[in-house]
Amino acid sequence: MKTRWYKDVVFYQIYPRSFCDSKSDGIGDIKGIISKLDYLKELGIGGIWLSPIYKSPNFDMGYDISDYYKVSKDYGTMEDFDLLIKELKKKDIKIIIDLVVNHTSDEHNWFIESKKSIDNPYRNYYIWKKGKGKDGLKPPNNWTSRFLGPAWTYDGNTKEWYLHLFTDKQPDLNWDNIKVREEIKDICNYWFEKGVNGFRCDVITYIVKNQTFENGKYKPLIVGDEHFVMYGKWHEYIKYLHKESWSKYDSYIIAEGMGAKYKDVLDATNELNKEFDSFITFDHMSIDFIKGLIPRKKLNLIKLKISYNKWQQLPKENWQTLYNENHDQPRSVSRYIKNTEYHDEGAKMLFTTEVFLKGTPYIFQGQEIGMTNYPLKMEDYNDIFSQMVFKKSSKTLIGRTLFKKYMSSYARENARTSMQWNDSAFAGFSSSKVWYRVNPNKDRINVDKQQKNLSSILLYYKSLIALRTNNEVIKFGEYKDLLPTHKMLYVYTRSYKNKTYLVCSNFFDKEVKMDLSKVFDKKIGFVILSNYEVAGERNINDILKPYETRVFYFK
Ligand code: NOJ
Repeated sequence: MKTRWYKDVVFYQIYPRSFCDSKSDGIGDIKGIISKLDYLKELGIGGIWLSPIYKSPNFDMGYDISDYYKVSKDYGTMEDFDLLIKELKKKDIKIIIDLVVNHTSDEHNWFIESKKSIDNPYRNYYIWKKGKGKDGLKPPNNWTSRFLGPAWTYDGNTKEWYLHLFTDKQPDLNWDNIKVREEIKDICNYWFEKGVNGFRCDVITYIVKNQTFENGKYKPLIVGDEHFVMYGKWHEYIKYLHKESWSKYDSYIIAEGMGAKYKDVLDATNELNKEFDSFITFDHMSIDFIKGLIPRKKLNLIKLKISYNKWQQLPKENWQTLYNENHDQPRSVSRYIKNTEYHDEGAKMLFTTEVFLKGTPYIFQGQEIGMTNYPLKMEDYNDIFSQMVFKKSSKTLIGRTLFKKYMSSYARENARTSMQWNDSAFAGFSSSKVWYRVNPNKDRINVDKQQKNLSSILLYYKSLIALRTNNEVIKFGEYKDLLPTHKMLYVYTRSYKNKTYLVCSNFFDKEVKMDLSKVFDKKIGFVILSNYEVAGERNINDILKPYETRVFYFK
């Protein structure tokens, strides 16, 4: 059966600032990416997701765009980008780029104009509102920014407030204005014509706001989402982009699905509805943290499985995005593999568990060598989100203590250290300096070293990617969780046309006796993959070692 191309491949996310620096200024760039395409091809990936490379003041590291038609000088030139596309085509690697259109930078020309006066032609590109109170000096409602604090900022010049669901340097666009929708359609078409194959649409679930601006229901941190998550004419506006742009190309469009409800995702990703190809969902990224900040001492695997089961049972028309890491999340080995003695086994187990699920798997740069969190000290917090959390928590002693104790396991900085290519001073990322940090464990964990080691995480990833690419059973197979209430093991099957994979993973550092006698009809199976030296015919009901993963194949 012929399927859409993105269902056959594994994607690799590049965070350009930290990937590879070709000009020795400490900042990764497009030419650096080009120099690593052989590496990516060799790894076997079929697509890259490139985080923003547009012109930006970088207040939120490129997620604050000041010109959608320019490449940031930090990353090179438009010619470099065109060359990247050309080289990717030669290698048959697809590319999707970030489309950040819930908001722009406050330095975007549209906003500069919009601020000038209430009758400026660009005024209505953004969401302006009179404040409350006698002088209008109180925000129009109680909505809060995802980065904490009020979602409104007062502009003394025109005496109105503008809405921003992130920082005050990221004003939200007004999608109810047809001109804004047309601009966005033009931006999409421009990049398609350049040769990109699709977009990862940043916080796209938030684009439409309830413009009666009622107060949100009170919640501890985030207030107002019932008024802007996939709200009102959301489906209509997405269908417009699909019709006027996305459907004209053989594209792959994924939505960052913050706050999205199951039913809405079902509708938005149903092929027949002509909206998105897939959603990035968050359930599995929030179960090991309490209120988004304090890590649980012990992973609650049952909860993790509940979140996987929810999305794996989507109807066949829908398609998933699978990920354990990205530029906003801590490193998965540090997050789940608490006993560092099993770093390598753990990294392999996590990827195996991810890759056999239904959906397009994503690898975040460095995940393929098991890069870890950075040992963050107070002076290392430079990301705007950490700074906002600090500002809020530093008001009380308990807040400061919580920040010191827990922020390091949560902070986005963990994902933004330099890619570890080798053990040289700047990890082979740059020859002279780095814009942020190099993890001191680069001597142990790096690409060079793992390329030479047959049992490395990198080579394990490579074989797994080869197995996943174009694999019918993983693409279409029925999913079944065999032990949903087991506290330590995640065991599932994928079955298609008399072929079955049985994927068994131990998420803890203790041995566990696996007993599938009541839920699986076979006793002996053929192990095709394991992170220990286990292969060939084996009894299925066996002991799994710490963080062991075993994949059996039946036909
Ligand atoms: C989600 C992006 O992944 C994150 O990095 C960014 O800060 C916010 N959206 C705002 O654009």
